[in-house]
Amino acid sequence: MALSAVSSASAPDNPSVSREATPRPVLFDNHDRPLEYLRLAVTDRCNLRCFYCMPEEGIKYLPKQELLTYEEMLRLTGLLAGLGVRKVRLTGGEPFVRRDLVPFMARLSELPGIEELSLTTNGVLTAPHVPELARLGVRTVNLSLDTLDRARFAAITRRDELPRVLDTLYALLEAGIRVKINAVVMDGQNIEDLLPLAELTRELPVEVRFIEEMPFNGGSHEATPATLPWNHHRIREHLALNLGELLPVPSHPGDTASHYTVAGHQGRLGIIAAYSRTFCGTCNRLRLTAEGGLKTCLYDQGVLDLRAMLRTGASDDDLIAALSHAFRHRAANGFEAESQRPLHQLNFESMSTIGG
Ligand code: 5AD
Ligand code: SF4
Repeated sequence: MALSAVSSASAPDNPSVSREATPRPVLFDNHDRPLEYLRLAVTDRCNLRCFYCMPEEGIKYLPKQELLTYEEMLRLTGLLAGLGVRKVRLTGGEPFVRRDLVPFMARLSELPGIEELSLTTNGVLTAPHVPELARLGVRTVNLSLDTLDRARFAAITRRDELPRVLDTLYALLEAGIRVKINAVVMDGQNIEDLLPLAELTRELPVEVRFIEEMPFNGGSHEATPATLPWNHHRIREHLALNLGELLPVPSHPGDTASHYTVAGHQGRLGIIAAYSRTFCGTCNRLRLTAEGGLKTCLYDQGVLDLRAMLRTGASDDDLIAALSHAFRHRAANGFEAESQRPLHQLNFESMSTIGG
């Protein structure tokens, strides 16, 4: 087992979620960042067609047998928990498009070491499952929502589903689940929506996070980070100009968002410099694509084919060695990872296979 870089870290101090009294192993990467967080894409399929993510006709979905099975995901997640992962977020595509998602989540939540389970959803199919999510102990859900205007929602996602997404928002709040709204900021598309979205924080205890648009799979721009029309600075200025002073909230290691409060607002704002990549220094995450590719950075093209290993009889020790090796050979940041891609291309892949 290649565990030489595994050292001990204290268990988190929240006794209601900590299952271990003794210190647990944490794998550190070659830039001294701990491995704590797994983003697991359970499907590449989606019931929306957000233009910045997919073409209208959809992407060519993977045949079902090329997706990892739930059993395979449970095995990998269990091994990663042994290397330090304590938080798992399910992504997609849209997680609820995959059958039997909730029973799978129940099994994930029982894995030793997994203390936090959450998911990112577009909210179309989610509302009926909210009570089950609450029962499973899901404390936070990220809801993708780029506009509160029904016509613009239909234009951006190519589906008229805003009412069902709003049902999900209110069902989550009623169930006491924290909601983080993710809004991609798109020049010429939804700039008029930023303030109405931010205004949600006035009366509701939600976090509204504005994300720089990354030029994956088309989208509205071909800018570089330096020429991005709506970068994190401009988003912040726009919000402050219209809402009043944004008071910065100290961030935690591993946070991708810069957080702000506004006097008198119940919720808070976040800005995610996803394309400027200002947060790589404390990145604590791995990504597993729906087809079993391991990514040590959103911007790499996959560093390990875990599905091939799983399906050719790899032992747990083989998998642990390969996972540890990959994590200990990470790019320092998203720019380095991007520069190591063949052809340096970002735009041939859809976020629905990566999970954001
Ligand atoms: N740029 C920025 N964010 C994106 N997402 C999907 N595609 C992009 C993109 N090109 C976001 C979605 C969702 C999360 C999974 O990723 O809005 O919240
Ligand atoms: Fe679906 Fe999310 Fe892609 Fe929109 S951004 S098409 S909701 S996977």
